[in-house]
Amino acid sequence: MNFNDASEIRRRDPSGMLDLIRRLPDMCAEAWRLPVEPSLPAVRPANIVALGMGGSGIGGDLLRAVLNDDASIPVVAVKDYRAPGFLGPTSLVFACSYSGNTEETLAAYDQAAGRGATCVVVTSGGDLLRAARDRGHPAVVVPKGLPPRAALAYLFIPMLAALGRAGVIPSLETEMREAVEILKGMTRRLGPDDASSPARRLAERLQGQIPVIYSSSPFLEPVAQRWKDQFNENAKTFSVWNTFPELNHNETVGWGVDETLARTIHVIILRDRAEPARLAQRVSITKDLAFRRAAGVDEIQSEGEGKLARLLSSICYGDMTSWYLALLRGVDPTPVPVIEELKKRLAEMGAV
Ligand code: F6R
Repeated sequence: MNFNDASEIRRRDPSGMLDLIRRLPDMCAEAWRLPVEPSLPAVRPANIVALGMGGSGIGGDLLRAVLNDDASIPVVAVKDYRAPGFLGPTSLVFACSYSGNTEETLAAYDQAAGRGATCVVVTSGGDLLRAARDRGHPAVVVPKGLPPRAALAYLFIPMLAALGRAGVIPSLETEMREAVEILKGMTRRLGPDDASSPARRLAERLQGQIPVIYSSSPFLEPVAQRWKDQFNENAKTFSVWNTFPELNHNETVGWGVDETLARTIHVIILRDRAEPARLAQRVSITKDLAFRRAAGVDEIQSEGEGKLARLLSSICYGDMTSWYLALLRGVDPTPVPVIEELKKRLAEMGAV
């Protein structure tokens, strides 16, 4: 694979996943400005719940990561047909589905609406938008025609913007601006125009191995999950994720696997400037105790000061690495036929 040859890139990535990954900074800036219509009424919710699956669900995990330390109310991501028991009239619910047709999200949204929660939908259309219009619920309508996972910015950022505008959280506009600037630099540095792209080098090291992604702290947990998801969906390869400190209480012991198995695993540790010193000590000891047997160990440092920049920069790195790995493996990064087939077969079985 010659990454300096634009026509070879077009041939191997015919739907242009690379361009979508490169557009992340612009999508973030655009997503920040997307209107909520009708606007969200002034609310003082007792909890915030984000409903969504897959590429549309990770936004809820990111929302929790951003708000967790400072929010005085619980922020919960739900990836299920069922709304949690506590969800009720004092809840603020974001129902997020790019297509607007994901059955788990539609079912949980129906329950949230039925329980009188304040609901906002984030979608490009489908049944979700129709239901929101019928109910008079506020909606953020995002641009159509993208693979849902490439629309991450559109599914995640509007929740933060809406919460800021409604006064539920302080505005994160300054953090958002920092994130966009950092992402602009990263997409240039990591893309194939730069022959020394570290994401490309990482993908080359990952060939023939199973990427195991560990976040050094729970803050970066959704990023570890996103890396795994992107390796699955773009590079069509198996991958798993976990986080410190939890993995020290179980998975570390699993590194007692036999040598041959350990040699198929490539560890990627996601580091963060704000990770607590105790967690850094855990990472260092675990590398020595367990990961020495791995095929390789790489560490990726988040960039920026604010939480948004740190989360999104780490995501950008993973998205780019998964794209290189797809092309190195000779697979088209865009189609996800297994997901389509599964949804089709479920639809043929009818509603439950
Ligand atoms: C496809 C993807 C999937 C979808 C998921 C839910 O690119 O990433 O994980 O996001 O199947 O579908 P939507 O996002 O339409 O609710």
